[in-house]
Amino acid sequence: MKAIIYTKYGGPEVLEIKETEKPSPKDDEVLIKVHAVSLNDWDFGLLQGDFVNRILNGLRKPKRQILGSDIAGQIEAVGKNINKFKAGDEVYGDLSGRWGGFAEYVCAPEKALAFKPARMSFEEAAAIPQAAMLAVQGLIDKGKIHSGQKLLINGAGGGVGTFGVQIARLYGLETTGVDSPGKFDMMRSIGFDHVIDYTKEDFTKNGKRYDLILDVKTNRSMFDYARALSLNGVYVTVGGSMRRLLQALFLAPWISLVKKKHIRIVSLKTNKDLAYMNELFEKGKVKAVIDGPYQLDKFQEAFRTFDKAEHKGKVVITM
Ligand SMILES: NC(=O)c1ccc[n+]([C@@H]2O[C@H](COP(=O)([O-])OP(=O)(O)OC[C@H]3O[C@@H](n4cnc5c(N)ncnc54)[C@H](OP(=O)(O)O)[C@@H]3O)[C@@H](O)[C@H]2O)c1
Repeated sequence: MKAIIYTKYGGPEVLEIKETEKPSPKDDEVLIKVHAVSLNDWDFGLLQGDFVNRILNGLRKPKRQILGSDIAGQIEAVGKNINKFKAGDEVYGDLSGRWGGFAEYVCAPEKALAFKPARMSFEEAAAIPQAAMLAVQGLIDKGKIHSGQKLLINGAGGGVGTFGVQIARLYGLETTGVDSPGKFDMMRSIGFDHVIDYTKEDFTKNGKRYDLILDVKTNRSMFDYARALSLNGVYVTVGGSMRRLLQALFLAPWISLVKKKHIRIVSLKTNKDLAYMNELFEKGKVKAVIDGPYQLDKFQEAFRTFDKAEHKGKVVITM
């Protein structure tokens, strides 16, 4: 089978398409013919080989040579302990921790997969797992979103932000998205009421207050975020600068006690809310914003677009 493979750490230029052995499913796995796969921040961490990711995937060179976690495809074969799925079923899910999605075939355990509804395309399904789970868990589980709130999403034009704003609108929230101007038309079209250009305006210093902030960048001090919250407001981070995340962890109890504002961190529960996303898609309440899809032979373009953060929504590659 064909796969996008890397044998040394680096940028998109170290990736190449190679022929490699087709995997065969163990007793508790299914074999999936991959139709589409989306790119995530974590793929880039593993590609570039920062310190934490080298501990995960090899200090000198990558042990797992095929990245890619958010996949959608059709089951081709099942192991003997598989009950939920059969050959022919269309599925999707996040294979973080085992990866292997940038390939024509991948094996996965049952629990990493959900049925793909017929009205959801493979490209849409591949866009959902990590980004939509972070949006759902950030807004609903940690943020305790409710009607009447004012929401701001920082880093709003990527995967988490484009799912997040659609979920927020289901609750009737007034929404503001912070990103660069090249993404504003798309952001407005997907439901943001207001947009802020982070290259020109610092939303923590413009005097406005929000009841809920969802942050995918976490590039400011927790005191700045607290200033932008209304009383009893909630700031939820899904990721960003490690230094700022540690600050969030240590300052959250103090800020809560003294300022009555709440800082929360999402620790992703992979695939937990795929059934909820299926329900929203089946009712036509949410759609995926797809950058691409890029065909396999254009994978370098897809990775470079993501690397330069020029993408709108989720970058999807079709295998
Ligand atoms: N918590 C967990 O367990 C967990 C698990 C997996 C992933 N994550 C995290 O989840 C996040 C993924 O979010 P995503 O997929 O939505 O990312 P994304 O698609 O890369 O979107 C991020 C957006 O932020 C914009 N941006 C860049 N610099 C900015 C700034 N200074 N202020 C405001 N916006 C800025 C980018 O556009 P421009 O650069 O063009 O402006 C881009 O549109 C990452 O932080 C990742 O580390 C967390």
